Amino acid sequence: MIRVAIDGPAGVGKSSTSKALAKYFGFAYLDTGAMYRAATWWCLDQGVDLDAEQPDADLITATVGRFFTDDHFDISVNPDDPDVMSDGESIAEEIRSAEVSSHVSVVSSIPSVRRLLIAAQRAFIAGEDGPDSFSNGAGIVAEGRDITTVVAPDAEVRVLLTAREEVRAQRRAAQSAQSGQSEHGGVGTDDVAARDRADSKVTNFLSAADGVTTVDNSDLDFGETLDVLVRLVEDAM
Ligand code: C5P
Repeated sequence: MIRVAIDGPAGVGKSSTSKALAKYFGFAYLDTGAMYRAATWWCLDQGVDLDAEQPDADLITATVGRFFTDDHFDISVNPDDPDVMSDGESIAEEIRSAEVSSHVSVVSSIPSVRRLLIAAQRAFIAGEDGPDSFSNGAGIVAEGRDITTVVAPDAEVRVLLTAREEVRAQRRAAQSAQSGQSEHGGVGTDDVAARDRADSKVTNFLSAADGVTTVDNSDLDFGETLDVLVRLVEDAM
């Protein structure tokens, strides 16, 4: 079983590259950001106040806990058909809304919430749920902010995917122009930068930890970035 851990900031093409890499090798694909987004969507859905000056960490943790332990949440790790569900209904679009994007850092910065999600992510990566049935345990690509350092520091392949800040801002702007709104439902580049700033107080995804390979794709296109990652995985096989 090859575990590929990929971290990096927003706007670096992490999700699309990770998904393509998983498809290339027939591996499972785990988008951990989607799990934090789903937890945030659920809190909003349950009427939890995420705008309070001092958000109620105990209430948020209990609410997120119910989402995961009472089996409301489900995620597809098939890279051809990634999906996130609540009570069997897809919430893939809802979790990319501007409302979720602008509140996700509030939820993801609570240590007890992180403990819950990290435990669930480790179970997925260990094949206790999902990946095994999808890929026969061949491998998994898991991407996020703390996969190389906290969730799976012993992964066979560990990559920090990054790009210069102005390049990431340009890519976000191009994406927004192309789709008529941003990928995350209307949140512009400034908000993404603010989310990165908030997130980087909690997880270190701006510099590579020991043993983590930095791939700076500022001057690489999608195919070239994928080639670099494919080679790193092949070297580990
Ligand atoms: O990857 P994505 O931008 O969808 O992640 C959404 C949010 O989830 C991030 O802004 C961050 O707050 C949180 N996150 C996290 N740890 C991860 C993945 C995502 O805190 N491993």
